[in-house]
Amino acid sequence: MSKPIFVLNGPNLNLLGTREPEHYGSVSIGDIEKMCADAAGKLGMQVDFRQTNHEGTLVDWIQEAGSNASAIVLNPAAYGHTSIAMYDAISAISIPVAEVHVSNIYAREEFRHKTLVSQVASGTICGFGAHGYTLAIQAVVEIVNR
Ligand code: DQA
Repeated sequence: MSKPIFVLNGPNLNLLGTREPEHYGSVSIGDIEKMCADAAGKLGMQVDFRQTNHEGTLVDWIQEAGSNASAIVLNPAAYGHTSIAMYDAISAISIPVAEVHVSNIYAREEFRHKTLVSQVASGTICGFGAHGYTLAIQAVVEIVNR
């Protein structure tokens, strides 16, 4: 059995579904978890889906994934723009990391245009709503199976 894909979600993503629907749509974090499980299942993989509002917890989970996961799909939320700790944690592991943002961060405020995570991720998907998670799972599985 291959190791699961860790799908890690950062701060305020627990509020998806009700939070700023003009940016994030109406899909809840529970709906996204189901979408991820389905997308991974079709590719013969499992997901370990988590959300936290705490930067250090994300760092702990990235380190854990380095040993216990095949790949990471990561929506770092606001910490993607600011977190050197997450940048360092991703730099320290060798599994594929797909960064996801539900909204198109490049069509929003200038402070969202730069992400530190994208500088060390395998790739970034943004602006496709919750479907971005499905695309990210397909992308990391493709890399894992290469
Ligand atoms: C987000 C984009 C971030 O800029 C923002 O801070 C979030 C959500 C997204 O999924 O579009 O919390 O990561």
